[in-house]
Amino acid sequence: MMSAEGGDQPAVAEEATAPGGDQSEAGGRQQQQPDASERNVEAQQEEAPGKEEQQQQPPSKEEPTPTKEEAQPGEQYKAVVLTSFGGYDKLRVERRTGAMVPAAGEVRIRVHACGLNFAELMARQGLYDCLPKKPPVVLGMECAGEVDAVGEGVEDRNVGDRVLVVNRGGLWQSLVCVAATKTFIMPNEMSFEEGAAIPVNYITAYMMLFDFANLREGKSVLLHMAAGGVGIAATQLCKTVPNVTLFGTASASKHDIIREQGVTHPIDYRSLDYVAEVRKISPKGVDIVLDPLGGSDNAKNYNLLKPMGKMVIYGAANFSTGEKTSVFSLAKNWLRSFNVSAMQLLRSNRAVSGYHLGYLDEEVELVRSVMANLLDLYRQGHIKPRIDSTWAFEKVGDAMRQMHERKNIGKVILVPEKDEPEEESEKEEPKKDGSKKEGSKKEGSKKDDSKKEGSKKEGSKKNDTKKEGAKKDDSKEGESKKEEEPEVK
Ligand SMILES: NC(=O)c1ccc[n+]([C@@H]2O[C@H](COP(=O)([O-])OP(=O)(O)OC[C@H]3O[C@@H](n4cnc5c(N)ncnc54)[C@H](OP(=O)(O)O)[C@@H]3O)[C@@H](O)[C@H]2O)c1
Repeated sequence: MMSAEGGDQPAVAEEATAPGGDQSEAGGRQQQQPDASERNVEAQQEEAPGKEEQQQQPPSKEEPTPTKEEAQPGEQYKAVVLTSFGGYDKLRVERRTGAMVPAAGEVRIRVHACGLNFAELMARQGLYDCLPKKPPVVLGMECAGEVDAVGEGVEDRNVGDRVLVVNRGGLWQSLVCVAATKTFIMPNEMSFEEGAAIPVNYITAYMMLFDFANLREGKSVLLHMAAGGVGIAATQLCKTVPNVTLFGTASASKHDIIREQGVTHPIDYRSLDYVAEVRKISPKGVDIVLDPLGGSDNAKNYNLLKPMGKMVIYGAANFSTGEKTSVFSLAKNWLRSFNVSAMQLLRSNRAVSGYHLGYLDEEVELVRSVMANLLDLYRQGHIKPRIDSTWAFEKVGDAMRQMHERKNIGKVILVPEKDEPEEESEKEEPKKDGSKKEGSKKEGSKKDDSKKEGSKKEGSKKNDTKKEGAKKDDSKEGESKKEEEPEVK
């Protein structure tokens, strides 16, 4: 089913067949609400019965739920499908036709933008354990768009509402049905791209910093992947607290931007040992580390914690070394996995937590309360996603490459349709050999509207005080440098 162009781009399947194979779920989904991708399968079956693959699907026994808006039979939409685990060629854009009717409690959304997350890179490689079901599966944990039909019993959403959405999967579609409780009304001034960039990165950063790590005035934080989606979200959230000293690791070319965002001490982890760099400035270490890396970095980060320090482990990026899964890298990181005993924790006065938004899928009220706070922070100008670049669904492979090759600064966005700039950017699109990519970068920077920085007066003031604070830290702590915690390997 791959296009002749093969390689980098997903195949576009006209009048897609229903994904065959295993329809079982990875566990944990709400029984009464099949996910968006399953709904599409039903739609296809209705519309184009008789295709060989479709006959493998169990027919839907459910009556279509009555809707306030008439669903339009013959609706055409696109879906980005992961067909099996592997490289970029395992992604396929399917053009589907069929009626998609929101069930009771659901809304149907015409999607304008979707967020790409590191989790989807890992999912493609078979390294993500929280997919709603095995491939073939529609990916996508966040999107933004307009409500165009409302299911029975939904009182607080109307046709025309602009919403952002967070869900465990199935959202990379141009038309999608989801539980109304997974949708949030967007502020008027928020673009669809921003809306799609907020949920996963900002909910994650918020819950780690404020719920687990209890970030407070005067504390120091080490962020890894500081120029990425979560990294920039966490930086902006740290700036809402006075006098936080922020260490951030990122490729050197990204340092000016993360400094502008609010990182006090950018560290080029690719050429320097970040542990040594942090200790040069703050010999005692830091109060909080957010660790998305895994493998041997868990222990390094743990050993950097001051007494009463907190580490939140929330990813395993080290396991993903490129387009394809490397067994060698998996084995190496597995062997270096982190272990700490209860007695070591007790003696060191440190806390270690694990965070995974995917497994909070059922905690609807918890997530809704965090999102309400985030939308307030957006309205007040404290947070604003930095959009790195925007790609058409058909370029999902290149969008993923942008992240795998560590080229993104901020959020990578997918859109179902891309208008005139598409042609321009296609001309400048990367060659298959990987050489590249002015087009998307330009778009990215055009779309970067992280300008409210200026309005965050506190931010820049804080920066200055933070620097001073950090220096004071050094001089104070320089003397106590020799004090050693038992090393955890
Ligand atoms: N647990 C959760 O609920 C949750 C939710 C969201 C994200 N996460 C985790 O948070 C981390 C960041 O996610 P994100 O979506 O915001 O992605 P991202 O940070 O935008 O990811 C891409 C950037 O990460 C850096 N990087 C470090 N190691 C890398 C590697 N092995 N491969 C590619 N890039 C690498 C690169 O920047 P530099 O050039 O600066 O190195 C790259 O540009 C990931 O580990 C992800 O799994 C966890």
